[in-house]
Amino acid sequence: MSNMSLFLRTLLTNPRMVGAIAPSGTMLAELMTSEVDPSAGPVLELGPGTGAFTEALLARGVCEKDLTLVEYADSFASMLRRRFPTARVVCADAARLRAHGLPEEAPFGCAISGLPLLNMSPKTVIAILTGVSSRLREGGALYQFTYGMRCPVPYRLLDRFGFKATLHGRVLRNFPPARVYKIVRRKPLHCAVIGR
Ligand SMILES: C[S@@+](CC[C@H](N)C(=O)[O-])C[C@H]1O[C@@H](n2cnc3c(N)ncnc32)[C@H](O)[C@@H]1O
Repeated sequence: MSNMSLFLRTLLTNPRMVGAIAPSGTMLAELMTSEVDPSAGPVLELGPGTGAFTEALLARGVCEKDLTLVEYADSFASMLRRRFPTARVVCADAARLRAHGLPEEAPFGCAISGLPLLNMSPKTVIAILTGVSSRLREGGALYQFTYGMRCPVPYRLLDRFGFKATLHGRVLRNFPPARVYKIVRRKPLHCAVIGR
């Protein structure tokens, strides 16, 4: 089955979870991965779908074995295992990384997210952000795209939990056009009070 057929079939089964009408295009994939430095170590990808950003990461020189792909949909996870046999594919909810055995120390140089954050509750979004940032090395960023006009994490939440988001760029030649935000931790981890 082609990437597009699998994407459409999964979209029809669970539109809210997929949260897009087509896989991301090449220009968006390039922008999402443009600051990924292969020497920065392993990369965490959330919501890889059919692997549009995964391919771009490999094209930037990241080793397949340095990739951890966290994908909720069984259909996408099975395809990712076939396409990227030496990557670590975890079929799991990105909001529950700990429950799925992702290491607690900070092994990742950066994270790339295709998750449909606008379809998630604030509690889930914060669980994802805090879970990911605790696994990023110091200075590591999370790159998140959105079809919206602003950061998909509300600024009051970013502020409250000690994150900062900056617009990394826009891609008009994507369907639909998209923006990429770079999210980093502003305060040391112990200063962000979860559930305040
Ligand atoms: C907008 S699609 C992006 C797919 C791909 N990254 C792309 O840009 O073409 C969102 C992806 O996130 C996955 N997803 C949604 N909720 C998730 C969750 N809680 N944990 C892990 N993956 C999730 C969906 O199954 C889907 O693959």
